[in-house]
Amino acid sequence: MLVVLERDTEQVGLQAAKIVAGAIRRNSSLRLGLATGSTMIGVYRELVRRHREEGLDFSRVVTFNLDEYLGVASTHPQSFHHFMQEHLFAGVNIPRANIHIPDGTLTGNYDAYCEQYEQAIRDAGGIDLQLLGIGRNGHIGFNEPMSSLGSRTRMKELSAETIADNRKSFAPGEEMPQCAITMGIGTILETRRILLLATGAAKADAIAKSIEGPVAASVTASALQLHRDVTFIIDEEAGSLLTHKPYYAHVLKMTRSLMPERLS
Ligand code: F6R
Repeated sequence: MLVVLERDTEQVGLQAAKIVAGAIRRNSSLRLGLATGSTMIGVYRELVRRHREEGLDFSRVVTFNLDEYLGVASTHPQSFHHFMQEHLFAGVNIPRANIHIPDGTLTGNYDAYCEQYEQAIRDAGGIDLQLLGIGRNGHIGFNEPMSSLGSRTRMKELSAETIADNRKSFAPGEEMPQCAITMGIGTILETRRILLLATGAAKADAIAKSIEGPVAASVTASALQLHRDVTFIIDEEAGSLLTHKPYYAHVLKMTRSLMPERLS
């Protein structure tokens, strides 16, 4: 596990984008797992800039998004389809056929659809690099507390905390989605490399529990401790409750000197 402590939100976005861009340069057919949410905006802004100014090529990149609200059309301004189009896809040269996002308009047969989503990931050869944010309650994707740590892509009820956190993006009085389709923890743990990003004091407790707490379904991000290649890129506020910072700084220094490609 690598913990990269950055000064602020902007540096978190730049560092994550640098790693993603490096991965695409090394493998033009990168299978990239994507997340939505405010934490990702800076990452996608920088990837779009690198595409426009440095020619970063997305023409062979294949993407799989973690999740989508259920009962929300792809044209809805708060849908994750819309978010991805606005913040990344419209700004880079990725072909439509290479983009996979769970369908939020499903009305039944969720299990069959979710199995197809898993099959599409397998058919593509698995996900090489997965971007993750984290909820205040420690969720990754929409794997809310007490999700099975072996879970696969499925329909999931959102927790009251997540509904409250995300309500601010919906119009006043508008009905909030209560469920989502999300990749499972088991699905996420099969990806080859994971970058989890977090910024702000509201994430500090979830980050400390995920990195230094026991592996527990009550904080689903703690399952990442079982992954062989996970990098947490967090700002000072999100890292404020960590107790082993000198050790993380030492590992980071050694990584920068011995394996610089891990961070670029
Ligand atoms: C979104 C997702 C969620 C978010 C998390 C953090 O695709 O999977 O787990 O990453 O809720 O959201 P923000 O970045 O808005 O705090």
